[in-house]
Amino acid sequence: MERSQRWPKAGPAAVVFGALLVASALVVVQADEVASVGVSTGIFTEEQAAAGAEAFATHCAVCHGAGLEGDFGPTLAPLDRFQFSDAPLSRLFDLMRTEMPFSDPGSLEADTYLSILTFILSENGYPSGEEPLSDADEAIARYVLDAPPAE
Ligand code: HEC
Repeated sequence: MERSQRWPKAGPAAVVFGALLVASALVVVQADEVASVGVSTGIFTEEQAAAGAEAFATHCAVCHGAGLEGDFGPTLAPLDRFQFSDAPLSRLFDLMRTEMPFSDPGSLEADTYLSILTFILSENGYPSGEEPLSDADEAIARYVLDAPPAE
């Protein structure tokens, strides 16, 4: 009884607070939706990954190995589970484009980073699909590194 009597007294402030709660709940739901598409659904094209293979050989293989097995730098296939499993794809992409190549961070074209990203995904067992991956932040932000499909 006491409870139900208290509500009406709260007046407009409660209504505003309630509206804010609803609004913030909606924001949370939207944020959830943003990074909810699995990379395993096929988010890049074969052509992108093929271009990425060449760029990787030129810019990354010297430290990460021609087969991504690792050398001076860590192995990139499989990717480090602790950092990347179920992480947003943006974590991997941002690390690459801001910190790599180790010797000259951020020195490559946006497009080159993007194709190298798709090559690394492909080498980790993620399938290609129909649509090319775009490097627009909002596009990358939709994807999460779910488990690659079992072979
Ligand atoms: C000069 C050597 C060198 C080159 C060239 C290089 N890397 Fe690296 N990379 C490293 C080292 C060393 C680390 C570990 C850095 C650390 O832990 O702070 C690393 C870490 C990484 C990681 C994080 C992996 C993990 O498990 O922590 C990724 C992803 C990566 N590099 C991608 C690339 C890509 C893509 C390129 C080419 C564009 C590239 N690297 C070129 C040396 C290199």
